[in-house]
Amino acid sequence: MPGPTAPPSRKSSEALPLIEFRNVGKTFARGALEAVRDVNLSVAPGEFLTLVGPSGCGKSTLLNMTAGLFLPTTGEVRYAGAVVADINVRVGYMTQVDHLLPWRTLAGNIAVPLEIAGRPKREIAAEVERLMTLVGLTGFGASYPSQLSGGMRKRAALARLFAYDPETLLMDEPFAALDAQMRLVLQVELKRLCRLLGKTVLFVTHDVDEAVALGDRCIVFTSRPGRVRQAITVDLPGDRDLRVLRYDPAYLAQCGALWRLLTPPVEPAVAPQGRRE
Ligand SMILES: Nc1ncnc2c1ncn2[C@@H]1O[C@H](COP(=O)(O)OP(=O)(O)OP(=O)(O)O)[C@@H](O)[C@H]1O
Ligand SMILES: [Mg+2]
Repeated sequence: MPGPTAPPSRKSSEALPLIEFRNVGKTFARGALEAVRDVNLSVAPGEFLTLVGPSGCGKSTLLNMTAGLFLPTTGEVRYAGAVVADINVRVGYMTQVDHLLPWRTLAGNIAVPLEIAGRPKREIAAEVERLMTLVGLTGFGASYPSQLSGGMRKRAALARLFAYDPETLLMDEPFAALDAQMRLVLQVELKRLCRLLGKTVLFVTHDVDEAVALGDRCIVFTSRPGRVRQAITVDLPGDRDLRVLRYDPAYLAQCGALWRLLTPPVEPAVAPQGRRE
C-alpha cells in the first residue's frame, strides 16, 4: 500500500491535524508484549509536542509508527489525512545515536540528503556551508566525526536533518547524552529553527525541564502499556527565550506540575511488628 500522499488542498489541510493517532495499539512478541494501548492524539501542523513517560511505555514505538517503520496492531496512524501504511518520507528521524558516516567529513555527512535529492554540486556546497553556520560548526567541514566532540557530532546530525528538510521532525531523546550547556545551545537552535521553518515536531525526552522548555504541549504517558495520561498545554509564549527560562516563575510552576505527575507516590514505610528491644 502506498504511504501518505500529497496533502489535501490548503483550505482543508488548515483545519486538519497533520498527525493523528486513532485508537492506536501495538503489541510485540506475537501479542505477548503490549507496548501501547488505545492512544488517541492529534498533532496540529507546526506544533511542537514533547512526549514523556516511564521507560518502556512505547514513546519510541509511537515515533516508529509515525515514520511507518512499524504498523499499529490496532487502530491507525494518519499523516496529512492518509493512513501511514509504508515508510513516511515526509518525516525525518533523529535519535540518541547520531549515525554519522565515519568515512565522510562533516560537510560530506551533511551533504548526504542533498546528494540523494540530486542537487547540483555547487548548490550543495553553499547549502552545507549555510547549515554549518546555522548550527555553529563553521570551519569544521573538513573534520571527520571521530575528530569531533559529542556536542559537535549532535550539531552535525541536526544540520543533516535540516538538510533533508522534512516537514515533521521525529526526535527521540536527541540531546540526552550532552552536558547542560551544549544541550541548551542545541535546544535554543532547534526551537528557533522549528519556529522559523514551521516544522512539526514530536520530541521524546526523559527530562521534565526540557519537555516544558521546548513543548507547545507535553504529552504524559502511563507506564506500559502506554496510554495518554495527560496532555498539558505549556502556558509559555512560542518565542520564549530558553536562556532565561529557568528564572521564569511560570516555567518553574509548569515543571513542578509535570514532576508531580511523573513521580510515583512514595510507599509509606511499614513499621516492623513486634516488641521493641
Ligand atoms: N522491535 C521490537 N520488538 C519487540 N519488542 C519491542 C520492539 N520495540 C519495542 N519493543 C518493546 O515495546 C515496549 C516499548 O518500547 P519503546 O522502545 O517504545 O519504549 P520507550 O517508551 O521508548 O522506552 P525508553 O524511554 O526506555 O526509550 C518495550 O517493552 C520494548 O521492549
Ligand atoms: Mg525510547
